[in-house]
Amino acid sequence: MTSDAPTTPDEPGTGAGTDRDGDRGISRKTLLRAAVAAGAAVPLLATGGIALARDAARSTPDRSLPPTPFCDDGDDPTPDQMEGPYFKPNSPLRTDLVTPGTAGTRLTVSGYVFGRNCVPLPGVLLDFWQADNAGAYDMAGYTFRGHQFTDAAGAFTLRTIVPGLYPGRTRHIHVKAQAPGEPVLTTQLYFPGEPRNSTDTLFDPALLMNVRAVGGGKEGTFDFVLNVDGGPGPDPTDPPTEPPGGTWAAGRSYSAGDRVTYGGGTYRCLQAHTSMTGWEPPHVPALWRQES
Ligand SMILES: [Fe+2]
Repeated sequence: MTSDAPTTPDEPGTGAGTDRDGDRGISRKTLLRAAVAAGAAVPLLATGGIALARDAARSTPDRSLPPTPFCDDGDDPTPDQMEGPYFKPNSPLRTDLVTPGTAGTRLTVSGYVFGRNCVPLPGVLLDFWQADNAGAYDMAGYTFRGHQFTDAAGAFTLRTIVPGLYPGRTRHIHVKAQAPGEPVLTTQLYFPGEPRNSTDTLFDPALLMNVRAVGGGKEGTFDFVLNVDGGPGPDPTDPPTEPPGGTWAAGRSYSAGDRVTYGGGTYRCLQAHTSMTGWEPPHVPALWRQES
């Protein structure tokens, strides 16, 4: 691991003068997440949709929720942010970035990934990377780097530490999010109440986590909204008329370096994962690189 904090910001353009307020931007999505955290009933519907908190609030004992509640929480897709120079492909598959002896305040970040129609998205690849407690990125190895997939309910949990500060930036966590077969969203998550939020021109209040102190650590929550349909996928009973041939198959464990063929192309695996329908090699450049 590099022991020195970067001497230059990983993203240029920081400086004073922004009029952004560090703690604005509480959205209805955030309120929904808060309702979840408070134990409000947010049932997953048979349709795969999630009932919004306000839908529950509208209901009365003699007026049950409609079977398919209208879902329009008014949230724009999660904005993108620059990747910066410290991303490394092939991060380990893991949800816990903390190892014994790791310095820093323990932090858990959890939330959901939604499509723009409010449907939670399972199988979304989330690749996190961040600075250590001293503000340094590990460019030699994979400390504080890890990818995971949202579960069947579209939920994720990351165990890490509060990242350290380094020159030119406010406190942040980098992440790439990609739903199966969809483009990659590269963005960053921010912490409320940080003095540098008002001077880091990359800071976006729409990317603020909710963070609370719990014991000696902190718990953060954030829900992603990807600019994808999120609707039901292709009917599994209606396979393509010309299935692409190749050695790739769903349900297999692939390791970095593995090679497969698919649809006439050859692909090399970049990250260990278990394959699934929707993650065919041409659709997921984060997992497969085409070689021919
Ligand atoms: Fe960074």
